[in-house]
Amino acid sequence: MPSFIGSPIEELDTPALLLDKGAMLRNLRRMAEFFTDRKAKLRPHFKNHKCTQLARLQMEAGGAVGITCAKLGEAEAVADAGIGDILIANQVVGSAKLERLAKLAKRTTLRVAVDDEEQIEAISRAARRADATVGLLVEIDIGMGRCGVIPGQPALRLAQKIQQTEGVRFDGLQAYEGHVVYHKDARQREQETRQALELAIRTRKMIQSAGIPVKIVSGGSSSTYQFTGTIDGVDEVQAGSYATMDWVYKELTPEFEIALSVLARVISRPGPRHAVLDVGYKGLGDEFGMPKVKHLQEADIQFRLSEEHCTGRNVPEWRVGAAVELIPSHACTTCNLYREMYVHEQGRVVEIWPIEGSGRLQ
Ligand SMILES: Cc1ncc(COP(=O)(O)O)c(C=O)c1O
Repeated sequence: MPSFIGSPIEELDTPALLLDKGAMLRNLRRMAEFFTDRKAKLRPHFKNHKCTQLARLQMEAGGAVGITCAKLGEAEAVADAGIGDILIANQVVGSAKLERLAKLAKRTTLRVAVDDEEQIEAISRAARRADATVGLLVEIDIGMGRCGVIPGQPALRLAQKIQQTEGVRFDGLQAYEGHVVYHKDARQREQETRQALELAIRTRKMIQSAGIPVKIVSGGSSSTYQFTGTIDGVDEVQAGSYATMDWVYKELTPEFEIALSVLARVISRPGPRHAVLDVGYKGLGDEFGMPKVKHLQEADIQFRLSEEHCTGRNVPEWRVGAAVELIPSHACTTCNLYREMYVHEQGRVVEIWPIEGSGRLQ
């Protein structure tokens, strides 16, 4: 198989996931600058790109205290790459996983979210069997309506339970304001972020008043970091998409550049202004909308995706075989579909990075 290092990106076999190195590095620098010299620190979310090379660069960029993961399998990939201090900002449930969780806690600083008393006991049993200690963040629901207990008393009860349980350590609160991150109006986004995080701050104070130290309150995203990261009482911001970006996030946070794209090729021209590309929703995260064409974002092209095809109407004079760069609507689900990313500078491939966390759903 050709290595493609040094090749112009148009010569890559398609579909291929591309990462513009300059744009990505500028994104990392911009976010690192925001967090350097700030009380709150960054904990970049691995679920965005699932690539350990990129995670390492995020740590090196500064302002970061560790990595956030959504899945245990992602956390194992991050630890295997030698990156320590991992938060799984999600529930890890089931005996097979808890055994792995405890093993992982033996070799790295590991924290995981919990919102259930029996689950605390299950993690404790697995940790004690492995002679490990697992750090726990009590997850509170600050408005998203996903996981998490109600802020206040229920969270305090879980914190007390953890304090009385061996093999686990109460480290703080997981509080993600996922219900506000896609608000287009930045003022509304700020206002609702502050309201949501206020619930976490009050819960923190309640737990501290009960004599239990709260080391970490973690929340935030790529479109709310500038608010979450300045709230007194928030320690960590788990932003992910800022590294690669996609066109949906670009509308929310214009300060970051779109570094990610999918290179596709025209495989058919069934009629005038009608073209079919060789990538469908098995190669493009599409749940937030159709892709856009890089450099033609304002064009009135209408796409429709099927499994392996992207059918475009109103397209320019693309010939069969032409390479087209598409910007996905959702970077995170797109990266999860590829095994490697082609990193390019000035239109040429400079590196190929494995995406170790791709498909690691367990
Ligand atoms: C738990 C959690 N934290 C943080 C984020 C923020 O990620 P992003 O910056 O990509 O929106 C997400 C997004 O899904 C999430 O689920």
